[in-house]
Amino acid sequence: MDPITARPRRLRRSPALRRLVAETKLCVDDLVAPLFVSEVLEAPAPISSLPGQVQHSFDSLLMESDRIVGLGIPAVVLFGLPAKKDALGSGASDPSGIIQRAIAELKARHGDALVVIPDLCLDEYTDHGHCGILDARGGVDNDATLERYAQVAIAQARAGADLLAPSGMMDGQVRAIREALDDEGFSETGILAYAAKYASALYGPFREAVDVEIQGGGDRRSYQQDPANAREAIREVLLDIDEGADIVMVKPAMTYLDVIAEVAGMVDVPVAAYHVSGEYAMVKAAGERGLIDPLAVALEQLLAVKRAGANVILTYFATEVAEALHR
Ligand code: PBG
Repeated sequence: MDPITARPRRLRRSPALRRLVAETKLCVDDLVAPLFVSEVLEAPAPISSLPGQVQHSFDSLLMESDRIVGLGIPAVVLFGLPAKKDALGSGASDPSGIIQRAIAELKARHGDALVVIPDLCLDEYTDHGHCGILDARGGVDNDATLERYAQVAIAQARAGADLLAPSGMMDGQVRAIREALDDEGFSETGILAYAAKYASALYGPFREAVDVEIQGGGDRRSYQQDPANAREAIREVLLDIDEGADIVMVKPAMTYLDVIAEVAGMVDVPVAAYHVSGEYAMVKAAGERGLIDPLAVALEQLLAVKRAGANVILTYFATEVAEALHR
C-alpha cells in the first residue's frame, strides 16, 4: 500500500493549530443586536415566543444598550411598538414617536460608540399589519407607500440614526429614501437595505414580539420574495445597490446560505444577514428540551452565515454570543 501523503488531520491536532488555520472567525464586531422598545411599558415584558428577549420600556432599553456597548457589540437594530396604530402608520414618522425618541436618546448616550439602525417599515404602526399603505381593494399600494417611507426616513435621520434599514420590500424604496435624505441634507445617513427578504414562516415569533397581526389572516407574499427563487434575489440586490444601498441584506439566514454566498461573490458592498426570530426560537426551544446545546449550535450557525459570506449578522443571540466570545 502506498504511504498516505495527504494528511489534513495534521492541522487539526491542537486548539492552537486549529486557530491558526481557521478560515473564518466569528467576532463581536460582526454582530448587530435587535431591540424592541415600547411606548407604553413601564417595565420590560418578556416575549414568550423569543425566550430571553423582551419588549423594552424606555428605561430598560437604555440599560440594555449600556450592556451591549460594554460587550463591544457595534450596532443595534431598533423596532418600535407604538401606543396607537392607524391605517397610515403615523407613529412611524411622528417626531416624538417611540422610535424617534429611542434613536435620539441612544445617540445622546453613546455617540459614535454605537451604530443605531432603526428598522424602516410601517407594519408595527399600521392597524392592518401590512408593511405599506393599502389601496381601495386592500392590496399594498407600492408608490403611496414610498411617500410614507420617505417621511419616516427623514424623521429617523433627524433623530440621529446612523443607518436606516428599509424592510418593506417595496420596489424603488431605496431610491425614494436616498433621494429624500439627500434633499433634506442627510447625505451622511446610510442605508442598510433588506434587499433579498423572503416571505418566510420563520418570522412567526417576531410578530408576537411587535404585536403585529396581518388583517384577515393575510400574508406578505405579494411583496416579499418567493423562497423558490434565487436569481430573483440577485436582481433585488443589484437594484438596491444601484438605488444607493450602502449595505445589502439577505433574510432569513440559515435557509438562504446559497443566496448569501452568491450575493457575497457578486457585490462590492458589505453583505448582511438576518438570523431571524424563528431561527433563534428553534434553537432556544430545542435547548430548553435538552435536545441540543443551544449556545454551541448558535455559534455554529452564525459561523456558517459568516463563512457563506456575510460580515454583518443581525441576531437575537448577539449578547449571549458576545459573552461567549469574550470567555
Ligand atoms: C418588518 C420586519 C419583519 C422582520 C424584520 N422587519 C417582519 C416581517 O417581515 O413580517 C422579521 C424579523 C424576525 O423575524 O426576526 N418590519
